[in-house]
Amino acid sequence: MRSTNPPIVEVKEVKKLYPVRRDFFGRARELLKALGGVSLKIYPAETVGVIGESGCGKSTLGKVILDLEKPTEGEVLFKGKSLKELKGKEYKEYRRSVQAVFQNPSNSLNPRMRIWEIVTEGLKVNYGLKRDELLAKARELIKTVNLSESSLFKYPHQLSGGQKQRVAIARAVALEPELIVADEPTSALDVSVQAQIVNLFLDLQERLNLSYLFISHSLPVVEAVSDRVVVMYRGFIVEEGSTMELFTETAHPYTKLLISSVPGVKEEFRAIEEEGEVKEGCPFYPRCPYRRKECLEFNMELLPLSKTHKVACLLFS
Ligand SMILES: Nc1ncnc2c1ncn2[C@@H]1O[C@H](COP(=O)(O)OP(=O)(O)OP(=O)(O)O)[C@@H](O)[C@H]1O
Ligand SMILES: [Mg+2]
Repeated sequence: MRSTNPPIVEVKEVKKLYPVRRDFFGRARELLKALGGVSLKIYPAETVGVIGESGCGKSTLGKVILDLEKPTEGEVLFKGKSLKELKGKEYKEYRRSVQAVFQNPSNSLNPRMRIWEIVTEGLKVNYGLKRDELLAKARELIKTVNLSESSLFKYPHQLSGGQKQRVAIARAVALEPELIVADEPTSALDVSVQAQIVNLFLDLQERLNLSYLFISHSLPVVEAVSDRVVVMYRGFIVEEGSTMELFTETAHPYTKLLISSVPGVKEEFRAIEEEGEVKEGCPFYPRCPYRRKECLEFNMELLPLSKTHKVACLLFS
């Protein structure tokens, strides 16, 4: 649960614009706003779920936290210090502490490496352990994610999807991280396997005191794993709250539409078309049944509804 400790990672007013549609000279003619100004703190041993339709910026948020993408504006802090200022040892410590598990383990595991080598690669690079030591560590790690020892000397293609994701998780926990960014970690798996992987995440959290940024399309999965949930729409957090508040006292019209179980409402949802323009005001305006003129000037500030529940909507101002 959320603690009184300082956050591991803080995302501070991050904007990320991607250049799209270049001209003859390679200059960007238009900018796509993947993140419009996102702020978020992730505390020790908590799970923050991220939901929102395709293209709303969930993975981009994960990537700026992992330093795989640089913010166009704003910054990401690790233990209070901007990633831009982390040098040498401090940056290494950040890389160790913040790990990732992605959607498709087939793409993220090197096909030419054996499982024991994959899960201990970080240990080899960081601590220069010898083969024997690495193998012993690999045995431990493989056990931690409930794989059998026989998988140690196999290659990724010899494992099932669920087993491969367990390997990716073992690799992520090898360096004893504090935060794992899990971007759709169950989406590529068979439904029957999804629950097992979700349970593994929950189990590891308890044993290793981990925090997760858990990105998923699956609302039941997010509900099951998250202490808090943030809802994104076109590059903005439109609502955040404890999982309970978010699902039972849903405030933002977009969240209501997203989690609505009424058939027909869901069907209205279509993936976002690529949209180059950077518009002002509430991005949900065109689809919102409660829209009014002022919404076009709204800065998407999150307004408090309770200590833990916030919404970016003028209906609540
Ligand atoms: N490298 C890039 N160059 C240009 N545009 C990008 C790039 N990466 C992402 N985008 C665009 O930024 C927006 C946000 O993308 P992002 O991948 O963060 O969405 P997402 O919420 O993770 O979607 P999904 O649920 O489909 O994974 C999208 O419109 C996407 O097309
Ligand atoms: Mg994504």
